[in-house]
Amino acid sequence: MDLGIAGRHALICGASRGMGRAVAQLLAKENVNLTLIARNPDTLGETLNLLETTPSQHVTYIAADLTHESERQRVFSTCAPPDILINNGAGMPPGDFRLWQREDWLKGLDTMMLAPIDMIRLSIDGMIERKFGRIVNLASRSVKTPQAEMGLSNAARTGLVSFSAGLARQVVSHNVTINNVLPGIIDSDAQYAHVHDLARRSHKSYDEIWQERALRNPAGRYGSPMEVAAAVAFFCSHAAGFTTGQSLLVDGGDYNGIF
Ligand SMILES: NC(=O)c1ccc[n+]([C@@H]2O[C@H](COP(=O)([O-])OP(=O)(O)OC[C@H]3O[C@@H](n4cnc5c(N)ncnc54)[C@H](OP(=O)(O)O)[C@@H]3O)[C@@H](O)[C@H]2O)c1
Repeated sequence: MDLGIAGRHALICGASRGMGRAVAQLLAKENVNLTLIARNPDTLGETLNLLETTPSQHVTYIAADLTHESERQRVFSTCAPPDILINNGAGMPPGDFRLWQREDWLKGLDTMMLAPIDMIRLSIDGMIERKFGRIVNLASRSVKTPQAEMGLSNAARTGLVSFSAGLARQVVSHNVTINNVLPGIIDSDAQYAHVHDLARRSHKSYDEIWQERALRNPAGRYGSPMEVAAAVAFFCSHAAGFTTGQSLLVDGGDYNGIF
């Protein structure tokens, strides 16, 4: 499918592994110019080598920790202004809210809400001027189906999605959209870390918990990063210009509701 975004420039956060990497692979095939962001330059380099690109495409990476304001500013002063922003990257581990200190809450809010909002702030006026912008927040199902042990994620990601929904209505007349993709259980590193954490906090093994989670899902399995990337790519497309402020679950039907 031609998404109608060839020659656009996409800034993809958390692009070196998992869902972010899958988004980079899909947009590369659409002839989009790419700047990939993550902290580790080695995995960024590996990802760059995986991409199917043409000689005319400009594809690069910047190693940066996006939880730091100075690093976000460095990214924007280094790369071309983005037409497409994929907000994605760090999450927070599960835990018991009784044990979280104020610092844990501030870190959660900084990582999953305030940093992505700042990335939007740094991108959006240029998009408005150029009359084209697609922003996709890769958040979590926890926005719609809060997970008991994921209090930091439930709260901070809902803040990002809610803020974005308000802003989306202010910018859509400039052909700038903001949407959210909410992944369920996806077969990638953040899920492995999560299941390890759950195993540490229970009497069950990693394999038992992994299996149980798959079987509890109506699809009977984990989703793939590519299945999430396909949803992200749709929101990035030229054709999606009349779709904004929306949140799409990619969760194998785990959320049992029609709206
Ligand atoms: N997998 C799931 O089932 C699932 C479900 C719902 C939500 N999520 C959330 O979706 C996001 C992506 O999940 P995933 O499984 O694709 O994760 P992943 O495979 O662990 O990839 C995370 C990516 O983000 C980068 N990253 C992490 N912290 C960063 C930072 N501070 N600054 C810049 N880049 C950073 C990582 O590279 P570096 O480590 O090199 O920085 C990597 O490229 C996470 O926030 C996760 O919590 C995941």
